[in-house]
Amino acid sequence: MKSVGAFSAAQCVRVESAEHLTEVRRNVTGTVGFVPTMGALHEGHYALVERARKDCDVVFVSIFVNPTQFNDPKDLEKYPRPLDEDLAGLKAVGVDYVFLPKPIDIYADNYRFEVREKEFSKVLCGAHRAGHFEGVLTVVMKLFNLVNPDKAYFGEKDFQQLKLIEEMVRTFFMNVEVVPCPTFREPDGLAMSSRNLRLTPQQREIAPSLYRALKNAATPADARRELENVGFSVDYIEEQWGRRLGAASLGDVRLIDNVEI
Ligand code: PAJ
Repeated sequence: MKSVGAFSAAQCVRVESAEHLTEVRRNVTGTVGFVPTMGALHEGHYALVERARKDCDVVFVSIFVNPTQFNDPKDLEKYPRPLDEDLAGLKAVGVDYVFLPKPIDIYADNYRFEVREKEFSKVLCGAHRAGHFEGVLTVVMKLFNLVNPDKAYFGEKDFQQLKLIEEMVRTFFMNVEVVPCPTFREPDGLAMSSRNLRLTPQQREIAPSLYRALKNAATPADARRELENVGFSVDYIEEQWGRRLGAASLGDVRLIDNVEI
């Protein structure tokens, strides 16, 4: 039998400031699992939460649309924020605490301090999104310091992000186990993403080609050609870490995906 954390009987408690989070965390006993998100939750996010629920006594989820990782202000502005639906979903899967910080809680320093990686954060998505991974690594370190989890769950969908977070944890001797989780897909193969909500019906029909091209094309160049032929604007298709990774846009919606080679 798993032991039950001190406050886990109270389902899905909203924690709205860094101060409140610190106070709540001080009173939690048992192993803590953490799933950081930017909200607009889908089955891919809920799969991470369910994994955390299975592994740990107490589960924290954060919803924070992190401004510093958006290189394009329009993308930040248009990022979906269906908070009520998200909270209902998290309650249904049995999350104990949902952390909903405001930018001032996370960036009281006005982003004077940041976590920077100088090599792998500059390729693939990093080559096309200046400052993106600095924003991701900085917010993840801050969230880890606040939540102080035993285990934190990340999707392979964002493979470069996963690798960089694993390395940050090793590099800074951070006391948390990063647990990678497989990519959750729609029946037609499209990787689930909050940004899929922004695809027009016509774009939604084309979108699964990204996964199919990554999986089936003989070479990265062939995959690029296939995608451009159906109307994608391709940022990159490259092979690294035993994966074939790609990023491509339909209109102003940028999609990423990767498959094992
Ligand atoms: P977000 O895009 O909301 O994703 C939160 C977590 O869910 C990430 O670990 C991501 O890899 C995972 N995820 C998203 N789609 C998935 C899918 N289809 N299958 C499996 N896992 C999936 O990634 C971020 O937020 C942010 O960069 C964050 C880490 C929260 C820092 O701000």
